Amino acid sequence: MYKLWIFLHLFGVVVWVGGMFFVLHCLRPALADLQPALRAPLMVGVLERFFRYVIVSLALIWVSGVGLAARLGAQAMQSGVLAMIVLAAVMTAVFVWIRLGHFPRVRQALAVSDLPGAAALLEKLRRLVLLNMVLGILALAAVTLWR
Ligand code: HEM
Repeated sequence: MYKLWIFLHLFGVVVWVGGMFFVLHCLRPALADLQPALRAPLMVGVLERFFRYVIVSLALIWVSGVGLAARLGAQAMQSGVLAMIVLAAVMTAVFVWIRLGHFPRVRQALAVSDLPGAAALLEKLRRLVLLNMVLGILALAAVTLWR
């Protein structure tokens, strides 16, 4: 069972953290020269799909993480593992805020053709995703390097 939990756990982490890295460092810079009227709807369409996979990843990460923690017992409270869990909790809260609080405002701005408004909201969203990516990398470092 351990192997299955760790596989599901790492699969979820790869999709979520790797997806954030791809959006921020490959997709977004590549779209920089597009007209805002094309760029903003494209980003919203991409993020809409990506966020669906993040929800699946979150479920995989938390279910497998709890399974792994149950197996470890009190050892799960050791520094690196505990730091990973705390960072993951913060990342989850940031994602919930993005998906339920911030992202609908971007869609709303686009729906009324407010392109400058949508661009400003997308810039804030970029910073929130950057925050989550950094936290994800720190969680990765904590559980591998700090044991
Ligand atoms: C995005 C956030 C997370 C990242 C990047 C992450 C990353 C990892 C990685 C890379 C491992 C393998 C470590 C190794 O075998 O050396 C791992 C194991 C583990 N994770 Fe996470 N994880 C995250 C979220 C969570 C959550 C939410 C929980 C608990 C609810 C959790 C609990 C565990 C446990 C208990 C292990 C096993 C540690 C061990 O066997 O020593 N993780 N995690």
